[in-house]
Amino acid sequence: MSNVLITKEIPSTAKNYLEEKGHKVKIACGFEDNKALLEEAKKVDALITMLSDKIDQDFLSHAKNLKVISNYAVGHNNIDSNFATKLGIAIGNTPDVLTNATAELAMTLLFAVARNAKSAMRNVSEGKWQGWEPMGFHGVELNAKTIGIVGAGRIGQAMAKMCHHGLNMNILYTARSKKTEFEKQTKAQHVDFENLLSQSDIVSVHCPLTEQTELLFNDWAFKKMKKGSIFINTARGEVHDEGALYDALKSAHLFGAGLDVTNPEPMSPNSKLLELDSAIIFPHIGSATVKAREEMALVCAKNVDLGLQNKPLVGDVNNIYS
Ligand code: GLV
Ligand code: GLV
Repeated sequence: MSNVLITKEIPSTAKNYLEEKGHKVKIACGFEDNKALLEEAKKVDALITMLSDKIDQDFLSHAKNLKVISNYAVGHNNIDSNFATKLGIAIGNTPDVLTNATAELAMTLLFAVARNAKSAMRNVSEGKWQGWEPMGFHGVELNAKTIGIVGAGRIGQAMAKMCHHGLNMNILYTARSKKTEFEKQTKAQHVDFENLLSQSDIVSVHCPLTEQTELLFNDWAFKKMKKGSIFINTARGEVHDEGALYDALKSAHLFGAGLDVTNPEPMSPNSKLLELDSAIIFPHIGSATVKAREEMALVCAKNVDLGLQNKPLVGDVNNIYS
């Protein structure tokens, strides 16, 4: 029997699965700080972590009993997986099961930004709706526009398909390699970052957070984007510079921005971005559908059970058993 700690409550699918497999499961309700989490982690064989848990070298070298860390997310920049590999700790994530949910959320932000949802909703809720308005709230029509997908992985490709097949859009993308099947399906074109910025009416971020993508969207990048274009980020907030984004919106160089992720996270309630009607901001809810979150919980539990048996995980980040 192994001991598993889940650092915050997730759908009960995870606990049920692990208990059926004979493991002992403890569910915490978050930790005050990393030190408190580490104290509990020292006592268990496996962890199910949230993307907000920082699992760095210091943490890993002190949690001596850990065999598996299963992140309740597809992104895993919160875990030093290279160092975990050296220590023989398997790292898991939850790809595929959240692809549609996250792409749909990116579309939600895109539609909301394009049609001025924030100011339109305020107009009603603040009692300012006087009558049908011929000249107000004119937004951007998305049909046949060009979208640039930064990082055409699963989620980026899913969004591109919705944009191409549903809205007749042209697709540009960046990725480390050309994606032949994706190009066939969507007539997408592989371009460099600068061309993507200067040719797209919408730029949507789907890349992981790495040293190469941190602050990729700086002042230079926002200025390279077309005047009147839209910026969407549902990946990681650290990919954009919040001050540079504010300037690009405030000067009306960009039409708007839709963020599901912020830099830092959580966003400060005093962030100047919150003052802008052109910025629509959600609290990192990309994968938050009932279906995706239940399936993520199950994948996390399977990752733990497999890793404890020295077998390859379902969502395998460092592949130490394959
Ligand atoms: C969410 O951001 C995830 O990486 O799953
Ligand atoms: C990961 O980023 C994915 O696209 O699934």
